[in-house]
Amino acid sequence: MSDETQPHVPLDFRRYSEEEMRERASSFYAELDRRRSVREFSSEPVPHEVIEDCLRAAGTAPSGAHLQPWHFVVVTDPELKRKIREAAEEEERRNYGGRMPEDWVDLLRPLGTDANKPHIEDAPALIVVFAVRAPAPESGRRRNYYVTESVGIATGMLIAALHRAGLATLTHTPNPMNFLREILERPKNESAFVLLPVGYPAEGCEVPDLERKALADVSTWFGPR
Ligand SMILES: Cc1cc2nc3c(=O)[nH]c(=O)nc-3n(C[C@H](O)[C@H](O)[C@H](O)COP(=O)(O)O)c2cc1C
Repeated sequence: MSDETQPHVPLDFRRYSEEEMRERASSFYAELDRRRSVREFSSEPVPHEVIEDCLRAAGTAPSGAHLQPWHFVVVTDPELKRKIREAAEEEERRNYGGRMPEDWVDLLRPLGTDANKPHIEDAPALIVVFAVRAPAPESGRRRNYYVTESVGIATGMLIAALHRAGLATLTHTPNPMNFLREILERPKNESAFVLLPVGYPAEGCEVPDLERKALADVSTWFGPR
């Protein structure tokens, strides 16, 4: 180890019996399998501590060189939500009105989505995940590494944490999302990665009847099982 190596501490690792491992893996899968993207939200407020703990959970994600290149902005302010909805709908009108390639529109048709995004205002909270693309100028460092991979993993963990806590989300990407940096006054070295409306589903909420690919279709195994 070089002189610059950080002090190390013993790992806090829990070892389970095989039976416990099977139970934990299958119940976690069953729980995640119930997660669905929700596009109709109730305006009922959500406990802010729950959101904060879910953000903490997201912040435990691994990141390239431990740079933790993410910033989470939570918006519950009605006026800001209105501004974000207006700007997102403007981009989406351009997307649906010809900017998206035709095969992308064909893929979206079964989901029933369009340029109207009332959920942005209906959901009691929006979480905007920003990717810190480059270090802050004052840091003296020139580049960040594996930003997209790291922020993608943290966002996945955030969505899973919110779902486990009993909150619904939509993964929304009204691209281009530069308007989010402007409205939310984030610095130039950050770019909006995803907009997550968060809350409880509206009464009678329905979701597209989708099937997920089977394990055999999305995985390959070499060697004994
Ligand atoms: C990167 C990414 C971008 C997405 N962007 C949108 C979006 O802009 N609008 C939307 O309604 N859904 C969006 N979705 C949600 C997908 O349509 C949804 O995850 C997919 O249809 C599967 O449904 P499920 O999340 O209920 O399993 C996005 C999902 C991902 C992962």
